[in-house]
Amino acid sequence: MKICCIGAGYVGGPTMAVIALKAPDIQVTVVDMNATRIAAWNSDTLPVYEPGLDEVVRQARGRNLFFSTDVRGAIAAADIIFVSVNTPTKTYGVGSGRAADLRYIESVARTIAEVSTTPKIIVEKSTIPVKTAETIQQILAANTNGATFQVLSNPEFLAEGTAVVDLFNPDRVLIGGERTPAGDAAVKTLADVYARWVPRERIITTNLWSSELSKLVANAFLAQRISSINAISALCEATGADVDEVANAIGKDSRIGPKFLKASVGFGGSCFQKDILNLVYLCESFGLPAVAAYWNGVVEMNDYQKRRFSARIVRSLFNTVADKRIAVLGFAFKKDTNDTRESAAIHVVRDLLAEQANVVVYDPKVAAADIQADVLGKGVANPRLNVAASAYEAALNAHAIAIVTEWDEFKTLDYAKIFAGMHKPAFLFDGRNIVDLAHLRALGFRAHGIGR
Ligand code: NAD
Ligand code: UGA
Repeated sequence: MKICCIGAGYVGGPTMAVIALKAPDIQVTVVDMNATRIAAWNSDTLPVYEPGLDEVVRQARGRNLFFSTDVRGAIAAADIIFVSVNTPTKTYGVGSGRAADLRYIESVARTIAEVSTTPKIIVEKSTIPVKTAETIQQILAANTNGATFQVLSNPEFLAEGTAVVDLFNPDRVLIGGERTPAGDAAVKTLADVYARWVPRERIITTNLWSSELSKLVANAFLAQRISSINAISALCEATGADVDEVANAIGKDSRIGPKFLKASVGFGGSCFQKDILNLVYLCESFGLPAVAAYWNGVVEMNDYQKRRFSARIVRSLFNTVADKRIAVLGFAFKKDTNDTRESAAIHVVRDLLAEQANVVVYDPKVAAADIQADVLGKGVANPRLNVAASAYEAALNAHAIAIVTEWDEFKTLDYAKIFAGMHKPAFLFDGRNIVDLAHLRALGFRAHGIGR
């Protein structure tokens, strides 16, 4: 059997590497039109940083895992084609700012139809609006050169930073297909691939639309929990309650559960906001404005939380940060990844620059050029924004520190040494609630957490 995956990004690369590792008899080829990315997948410095990924790729690459720019050749040879291209929020035309941009999905569907001469199973791995499989089917049917196709939905639930663990041991694998004999056969073929390492009872099969919708709903529910606890964090700050204590107390109720109740400076990442906006747009398109408004509130609360964090910094520093040095620790949207898409840090740094602060960012995995480009735009410079090589360098001569990503190394810094090198009073704002505020206060810091 031959598998091709179109899109060598954060999902396509790790997912296919794990399939290749677990199914040595299947030849897996990951293709992308981005030649630089493919070259990186073929090098010692992978384009995606994920704990454990280097080892998986090292074992399978060259054996039954290949990375290539020959998109057409790999499609023609494959039995199963995963579509794992990006589906960003549309930035133009109808639905701008909310709907998913499906231009890459459509372009891939057209290429598949053009190149294929044998039967293929097409797997939607990208996150897409409900009914996208219907669009793909129509494009394939209208352009086929005689090949037949079965379209399946197989959304990915991995989280960045834990991608390898999540892929090795998923809570569930979801496969949606047409409820016809040919559809059922395609679902079985794909289920058999996962069954090599995933217990059968964790492989759920549904109709196409349930599978497509479940992906958006899963992300909406996860993000909703974060916005809910973040909303409560504002009330905690006003009342003297401690949001971590509240989260712990409510999370012990087995009906609520403890996960995704960590108050923060706001959720980031390429998907939560994008997928909720997509859900909101779908609800509006289907004439359900009350449902749309309900879910839009999750994104609005997240925007509020990010603004609230930077506003608190300015307020605490005597209502002015102009010309003050602020060390921002962490820039990735969460720990253990080099991904900065929609990171809360981007907004916090921009807010501080707008107040004419001098901002020095340190992140253990994000390149300086990426930080500059994310905040200012590619090729734009601002003397007020600099990147340091360590947390200590960033904090030297600073008036305040803002922890924005929960990297483990920020938990164990020598804060006494850092305090000694800062302007007084020295402030620390922990946007992740990872440091011991009592300890920092004992050292002399004016230390604040989120919701505490
Ligand atoms: P990404 O931007 O990292 O990767 C997508 C890749 O597709 C890019 O390298 C791009 O060059 C390539 N591509 C686009 N059009 C192409 C074409 N016509 N031919 C060949 N290559 C093409 O995106 P990602 O983070 O991997 O996400 C992919 C999809 O998976 C999205 O729909 C996303 O919502 C979903 N998803 C992402 C995550 C995650 O953790 N990042 C998790 C679950 C689901
Ligand atoms: C999320 C989902 O967890 C995955 O299941 C899904 O596959 C993926 O989106 C996707 O569709 O792309 P990811 O965004 O990689 O994964 O990472 P998460 O661990 O979910 O964190 C998202 C954001 O929420 C991060 O900024 C994180 O710091 C924040 N977060 C998370 C909190 O602020 N509090 C929490 O309790 C948990």
